[in-house]
Amino acid sequence: AGPRPLPPSPPVRVSLYYESLCGACRYFLVRDLFPTWLMVMEIMNITLVPYGNAQERNVSGTWEFTCQHGELECRLNMVEACLLDKLEKEAAFLTIVCMEEMDDMEKKLGPCLQVYAPEVSPESIMECATGKRGTQLMHENAQLTDALHPPHEYVPWVLVNEKPLKDPSELLSIVCQLYQGTEKPDICSSIAD
Ligand SMILES: *[C@@H]1O[C@H](CO)[C@@H](O)[C@H](O)[C@H]1NC(C)=O
Ligand SMILES: *[C@@H]1O[C@H](CO)[C@@H](O)[C@H](O)[C@H]1NC(C)=O
Repeated sequence: AGPRPLPPSPPVRVSLYYESLCGACRYFLVRDLFPTWLMVMEIMNITLVPYGNAQERNVSGTWEFTCQHGELECRLNMVEACLLDKLEKEAAFLTIVCMEEMDDMEKKLGPCLQVYAPEVSPESIMECATGKRGTQLMHENAQLTDALHPPHEYVPWVLVNEKPLKDPSELLSIVCQLYQGTEKPDICSSIAD
């Protein structure tokens, strides 16, 4: 028998704390995170936490949210939380990127779902987003965001293996650098110093 294969190295964890309508968040998601994922998805584990600079209040036992960019942002944060809850992980990510790169995000829910998760109806996502489930999911995201150490200073707030990433344009090189496996994707050697 040949040598036993080494156990696979865990992927590098990348978490994005963001809100749906912030311009810099959309830019990071579409121009940095998505292309990096396309290049090295096999060594990355992405977590999206839509909430960002939103705030929550307990109004007689129900969580109510206020968002930096208004009601629409709260609604879209909720839609994205529901996509992350109901879809396969990859389909949720792709559907969110698809929406975030468009001008009228709310109108694009249906068309984006049609491409990445045609079995899921936009109505079922809206039902979640406007109901108790959406509120529950957003409360969980509020707790995750409020528990950050150090607390987020701005959005997008990106953690790579739990450490804040200060320069978003370095995402690819840092993910390559942090990955402990011996077999790195080819792109990693072509960008190495
Ligand atoms: C990705 O991270 C999540 C938790 O954040 C974990 O449950 C899951 O197992 C991880 N996936 C891989 C492939 O390591
Ligand atoms: C929210 O407020 C209700 C009453 O207004 C109270 O009974 C409940 O304990 C509060 N929940 C939390 C988590 O603070």
